[in-house]
Amino acid sequence: MKERTLSIIKPDGVSRDLIGEVIRRLEAADLKITAMKMIKMTKEQAKGFYRVHEGKPFYESVTRFMSSGPCVVMVLEGEDVIKRYRKLMGATNYKEAEPGTIRREFATDIEKNVVHGSDSQENALFEINYFFSELEIA
Ligand code: CMP
Repeated sequence: MKERTLSIIKPDGVSRDLIGEVIRRLEAADLKITAMKMIKMTKEQAKGFYRVHEGKPFYESVTRFMSSGPCVVMVLEGEDVIKRYRKLMGATNYKEAEPGTIRREFATDIEKNVVHGSDSQENALFEINYFFSELEIA
């Protein structure tokens, strides 16, 4: 089924000059980018984005990290794109990620894991609408 997902290149990926590397991998895997921009979230905006994790031990830290510098946010579109992009990213904990995945290759910590991807259609819809209006999606 054709669907959309939200991708974020996190502040560690941007500051370590991994924007091109991540985009190259998306394109090589035929994950189509239909919207893209660079943003810098406030702490409040990061808290809103990660509200599903409110109350978890890492909530304070991840929202501080995500508002610490610029991120690149993108909408990806295609058949089964949520699952395909998650496979390309690898597991949240890079130590458990498959060899060759973005997180296994580049993450330095469970929090500084370079990229984010929606985990379900419901969350993808919320996350895309959090950053993009329909007019900005090609
Ligand atoms: P992400 O896929 O963006 O979703 C939540 C983020 O919180 C996750 O990637 C990590 O960057 C961060 N995080 C930090 N610690 C944990 C943890 N123990 N479990 C899940 N996510 C964590």
